[in-house]
Amino acid sequence: MTVRIDRMSATDAAAVAAIDGPTRLTEEQLRAELERPWARLWVAREAAHGVVAFVVAWHVTDEIHLLNVATRSDRRRRGIARAMLEALIAHAREVRARHVLLEVRRSNVAAIGLYRSLGFFAMGVRARYYPDDEDAVEMVLAFDAATGEIVERADEVRLHG
Ligand SMILES: CC(C)(COP(=O)(O)OP(=O)(O)OC[C@H]1O[C@@H](n2cnc3c(N)ncnc32)[C@H](O)[C@@H]1OP(=O)(O)O)[C@@H](O)C(=O)NCCC(=O)NCCS
Repeated sequence: MTVRIDRMSATDAAAVAAIDGPTRLTEEQLRAELERPWARLWVAREAAHGVVAFVVAWHVTDEIHLLNVATRSDRRRRGIARAMLEALIAHAREVRARHVLLEVRRSNVAAIGLYRSLGFFAMGVRARYYPDDEDAVEMVLAFDAATGEIVERADEVRLHG
């Protein structure tokens, strides 16, 4: 499998809006994101399948907020989201961000597994954060200010039990 990761452009909006899943965005929402000077968007393409995944993040002061990552359901578990987040993390390093931050549903085992495998740790829980009352887990990837290396940290909250 060869995946190419590019910055998203307006011509990708229809293909990205067609990616299925709970975090789906409409073409209109994607175009609005692309207009925001602080938004950073990427897509993953496979020669045989076109656009198969996307990431939306915001760069706010010295933090990158990961808002959305999704892989087309028939192309999951092939390392595509990991490759996209590695591109995001490389970008965060390039711009000397201090942290990458995100919120994820407590029940989203796949996403939490993905984030952990990249060095994120759980920093807090926001009780009943989502409209259906599910808790959000706040996760962080921290960079050492001097070296830019990822700082390994243990969870600051218990997620289970
Ligand atoms: C979460 C999501 C983006 C992962 O995409 P993906 O391309 O399948 O992820 P990858 O193949 O790169 O997986 C990387 C690692 O994440 C973890 N992971 C991914 N899917 C998992 C699952 N179903 N169960 C447990 N761990 C999982 C694993 O550690 C995996 O590494 P491994 O395959 O070597 O074990 C995908 O499941 C998705 O689009 N979900 C719906 C949208 C969503 O919930 N987004 C996150 C909230 S914003």
